[in-house]
Amino acid sequence: VEISVAAEDLELSGYEHYMLKEIHEQPDAAAMVLRGRLDERFATARLDGLGLDPRELRSFRRIKILGCGSAYYVGQLGAQLIEDLARIPADAEAASEFRYRQPIIESDTLYVAVSQSGETADTAFAVEEIKRKGGRVIGVVNVVGSTIARTVDGGIYLHAGPEISVASTKALTNMALSFALLALHLGRLHDLSHADGQRILRGLQRIPEQIREILEDADPIAAVAEDIAKAQSAFYIGRVRGFPVAREGAQKLKEISYIHAEAYQTSELKHGPLALIDPHMPTVALIPEDELTDRNLAAAEQILARKGPLIAITHAGVDLAHLDARTIVVPKNEPELDPILLTIPTQLLAYHAAVRLGHDVDKPRNLAKSVTVE
Ligand code: AGP
Repeated sequence: VEISVAAEDLELSGYEHYMLKEIHEQPDAAAMVLRGRLDERFATARLDGLGLDPRELRSFRRIKILGCGSAYYVGQLGAQLIEDLARIPADAEAASEFRYRQPIIESDTLYVAVSQSGETADTAFAVEEIKRKGGRVIGVVNVVGSTIARTVDGGIYLHAGPEISVASTKALTNMALSFALLALHLGRLHDLSHADGQRILRGLQRIPEQIREILEDADPIAAVAEDIAKAQSAFYIGRVRGFPVAREGAQKLKEISYIHAEAYQTSELKHGPLALIDPHMPTVALIPEDELTDRNLAAAEQILARKGPLIAITHAGVDLAHLDARTIVVPKNEPELDPILLTIPTQLLAYHAAVRLGHDVDKPRNLAKSVTVE
């Protein structure tokens, strides 16, 4: 396979860091992963590279997603999208754990390996193990012709373009969008109605522009990052669809700012971690406008009652006026797709905190872009 990369893709193009450049490339990258894949007539996604015909696809009774680090967290989001839209039981697991626990490979499970580089050793080994035992595995991969892309039975390419910063951003967004496409496709093979398919399709079409809106009004996010940069430790909390967003947000902060960050399910706060809340422990809370808003607001009140600084990533429809919180408002989409947009400010929070602390944002200590060793 010949891989050609345009020179301008590898330049900073006026940005201070590749990470910032790649964050700003997301509207175009998102448009690329959707291009040619939205089927208006049948309100579904066209995924020609899956290598599975509709009858085979319908026969899977379970979906198992495998990836490492941030790719694993996006996999959790992907599993929720598949359960929501296709009503097929789905879960995600760290490929690095899966490969060492003698996994049971079942013929009615579709395995999905997710990786930006396509070279992550743990994920590649998991794919080989599945294939060795006769399982069906598809890839959600960025790098064309990479090891994982060559080993899987088929898959979805991310079309995010080259990603240079160790901290992944645009590839993760395109992974989430790829899972939305897969979930829509599977949903329409099962019981998702034409109207609901249309609803998701329209939502997907709005995403590139909504990411652009967030990026165009990012100054308040940089200001909030100043506060986070002063902390020793931070919490990221989210519930159900918001939890993978919290995990990814915490991961990004740890990776490049070296500030300790921990993600928790908002619902679990009162079962232990609430004890850590004090004026020195900021909490980034995902509070989308959905059926759980009131519960999320109640948790926010508990944090504020203990004098914990609160940063809410939220929607305009959520009333936070009575709370002493710093707010970052993102545009609203369909509930299933909202996590994709809620993630964008967490990238910028980590980026600006790291810059503020003077770290080498694109090459954080102890980390490599792709982990090709055991
Ligand atoms: C993301 O910011 C991290 N650098 C890391 O967790 C990464 O997502 C992980 O190592 C998986 O890499 P991959 O997508 O290339 O397989």
